[in-house]
Amino acid sequence: MRTQVAIIGGGPAGLLLSQLLHKAGVASVVLERRSREYVLSRIRAGVLETGLVNLMHEAGIAERMDREGFIHDGTLIANGNDQFRIDFKELTGSHVMVYGQTEVTRDLYEARDAAGATVMHECSGVKPHDLTTDAPYVTFFHEGAVHRLDCDFIAGCDGFHGPCRQEIPLSVRREFEKVYPFGWLGVLSETPPVDNELIYSNSERGFALCSMRNANLSRYYIQCQLSDTPDDWTDDAFWDELRRRIPEEAADRLVTGPSIEKSIAPLRSFVCEPMQWGRMFLCGDAAHIVPPTGAKGLNTAASDVNYLWRALVAWYNDGERGGIDTYSETALARIWKAERFSWWMTTLLHRLPEQSEFDIRMQDADIAYLQHSTAAQTAMAENYVGLPY
Ligand code: APR
Ligand code: PHB
Repeated sequence: MRTQVAIIGGGPAGLLLSQLLHKAGVASVVLERRSREYVLSRIRAGVLETGLVNLMHEAGIAERMDREGFIHDGTLIANGNDQFRIDFKELTGSHVMVYGQTEVTRDLYEARDAAGATVMHECSGVKPHDLTTDAPYVTFFHEGAVHRLDCDFIAGCDGFHGPCRQEIPLSVRREFEKVYPFGWLGVLSETPPVDNELIYSNSERGFALCSMRNANLSRYYIQCQLSDTPDDWTDDAFWDELRRRIPEEAADRLVTGPSIEKSIAPLRSFVCEPMQWGRMFLCGDAAHIVPPTGAKGLNTAASDVNYLWRALVAWYNDGERGGIDTYSETALARIWKAERFSWWMTTLLHRLPEQSEFDIRMQDADIAYLQHSTAAQTAMAENYVGLPY
């Protein structure tokens, strides 16, 4: 087979890149290891920055998001029983869109199908080759046959555990990581959200987050031990603990019900430098991971895709290689700011096992400063709605 851009990984990063390239007349083939049902079964966050919302429009896939998504002009921060609001609209003139990542991925698959795109599922043994030549290619198994896909460029959108990052020689690859000593126990329930905005709550018992998918589908998280398993937590135990960690008036309003999904996610910050090697470019989780506290996972994947899409189109249309040559440093400049914001939100709102009394006072003072300082709220708001691309 031959294409212009071989995309390894059919998650949101790979599909968004493929759709944007298609709109610009650049051909691509997507190679995904799992089935489509499996990819769509993953429950992931759902807060979209303005930049991603604009990309969805550029990609021609915004119709359902605009119809079913929720525009949030602010969010709530709670510290014990105390609560205050960060007014994104007032502070930045902007907002976020609450629309599940699973829905974004579903819209992308439908758009790829409508365009007759080649998205191959259940590809195994995917291996990129000749990355430092002008004629890279990918080999893989599909339906029992060995395939070779020749291309001009390879996009590694294969997530944290994919093969592409490993292709960058250790002599030039640097990896930065911070693993947090706790996890997030998440529950999805067919109940009305406790508030029409998200509540990020710091309590002496640990962090909690109240989020939503729609008017009758809520998503809640509590900080838990890394050694916990979902079976350690009955639904009742989860709801009781959540009530203890959010302000009383919210706890009184909370509508509970059976969990339709319950899972535990570890928290990690991770960055790989560089994000390109020869004619291979990494996007999304293949190159970086953020703790979910700042809702930056999907949004950082989207900013990578934004830079790579524009660089490849400039190359194909005008032979302009500036964007290609500087992709890694351009993407990393924004990634490190999203990493800092996610680390700051995580440190601000979670209880860390070895935290001293002084550390807790620092946390309280940081939250009090955020509560009473327009400057601090503006800094948080502009990072939350998304720094410019
Ligand atoms: N060959 C082909 N596909 C692969 C391989 C492989 N060897 N290894 C992994 N993949 C696929 C995975 O099955 C997955 O569908 O690559 C895809 C990577 O998708 P994601 O993990 O969703 O990563 P990305 O597209 O970068 O999206 C980032 O996902 O994990 C969330 O919080 C993260 O929201 C962020 C978003
Ligand atoms: C979610 O809705 O799942 C969600 C929202 C905000 C976050 C993390 C997760 O920071």
